[in-house]
Amino acid sequence: MENFTRFMHPNIVSTTFTSIFSARPDIVVRAPGRINLIGEHTDYNGGLVLPAAIDKAIWFAAGKRNDRRFAFYAADLNEHFISEHQPLVFQKQFTWVNYLLGVFSEARKDGLEFGGLNLAFGGNVPLGAGLSSSAALESGAMFVLDALYGLGLSQLDIIRLAQRGENNFVGMQCGIMDMFASVMGRAGNVIKLDCRSLDYEYIPFRMPDHSLVLCDSGVKHALVASEYNTRRRECEEGVAILKRYYPDIASLRDVSTDLLKAHENQLRPSVYNRCLYVVEEIARVEQACTALRENDLRQLGRLMYQTHDGLDRAYEVSCPELNFMVNAARVDDAVTGSRMMGGGFGGCTINLVKNEAVEAFTQSLDADYQRVFSRKINSYVVRPSNGIEVVD
Ligand code: GLA
Repeated sequence: MENFTRFMHPNIVSTTFTSIFSARPDIVVRAPGRINLIGEHTDYNGGLVLPAAIDKAIWFAAGKRNDRRFAFYAADLNEHFISEHQPLVFQKQFTWVNYLLGVFSEARKDGLEFGGLNLAFGGNVPLGAGLSSSAALESGAMFVLDALYGLGLSQLDIIRLAQRGENNFVGMQCGIMDMFASVMGRAGNVIKLDCRSLDYEYIPFRMPDHSLVLCDSGVKHALVASEYNTRRRECEEGVAILKRYYPDIASLRDVSTDLLKAHENQLRPSVYNRCLYVVEEIARVEQACTALRENDLRQLGRLMYQTHDGLDRAYEVSCPELNFMVNAARVDDAVTGSRMMGGGFGGCTINLVKNEAVEAFTQSLDADYQRVFSRKINSYVVRPSNGIEVVD
C-alpha cells in the first residue's frame, strides 16, 4: 500500500473522476487522517483518548450507478477495482479495496438499501504511518454512501459501521478512536473521548509557540495486526481474572492501579504489565487534559514521554527506530514532548516542537537516523482540523 495516497486535492479528484467514469461526480468529500495526543491502546479498553482530525486527508469524488456494483479508482496508485460478487468478498490482491467493501458489507447486514457506486479517491495521508488512512477511507466511503442514497445515518452510525468494517471484514480488532476523530474532528481542537460512554468534549489546542510535528520512521507496521489483536486478548485475559474477584469490572476502565497491584500474582507477568500500562495511561489522559487547559506544556510533554516508555517497556509495541527517535527528542531543548503514536511497531512519533526549531530538529533527526538505520525520516507539521465534510 505504499504511496497509496500521494497528493490529491478536490479539483484533481473531481476531474480524475470525470475522466475515469465519463460523468461529473455527484459529491466530493474530504475525510481526514488523525493524530492522537495521548491515550494509546486505551480505546478498546473502555478508556479515554485525546485525538484530533488533521489537515491531511483523502478526497473522494463519487456518483451513483444504475446497477448494484462498486467501481473504485485509487488515483495515487492508478489501480481500478469493480465488484463482481454478491455478497461482497475479501480481496487478497488489493488491500485498499477491503476498507471500502468492508463498510458497505456491514451496511448491507443492517438492511440498509443502496445501489452501486463509482468512486475515485486520493490524498496526502501518508500510508502505514499510523495516521489512520484506513479509518479515513472507511468513514469517508460510508459518509459518501449515506449522502448519495439518503440513508439517514447519524455521525455515530457512520463511525460504528466504519469500525465494524475494519473489525469484521479487514480483521483488525481496532477500537473506535480513529473513525471517531476522522468524523468528529473540529479545527483548532483535540477531542477528549470517553470510549466507554462515547461522551466527548472538544478541548482547544492553543500552542502558538509550538508545532505538532509528525516524524515518520518509514518502518511499516507489518506486525501490527497480529500483535494488536494479541494485546487486546491480553487485556481481556486480565479483565476476566479480575472479574472473578470483582464481578462488576467490565473493562480496564473499571480497574485502579491499587486493585491491579493487589492481584499481581494472579496474572501472567506480561498480562499484568499490559494492564498496568493501560490503567496508568487512562489516568495520564485526564492529567493531559488538565495540562492543556492550564497551558502547561512542560507537564503535557512529560506525560507524552511517560506514555512512550510505557508503550515500549510494558506494552511492548515500540521498536528500535521509534525509541531512537524519541531519545533524540528527549535531549533536544526545543522539543517539549515526544512519543510513538498509534498501534506501534513503526509509523510516526508525535512531537511538540518550538516553532523556530522545527526545521533544525527534523533535519538533525533525519541525519542521525540515516546514519544508524540507513533510512530517511519524512516529517510533517500538522494542525487539528475539521472532520469529514462535503467539499464544494
Ligand atoms: C490503532 C487502532 C486504534 C487504537 C490505536 C492505539 O490506531 O486503530 O483503535 O487502538 O491503534 O491507541
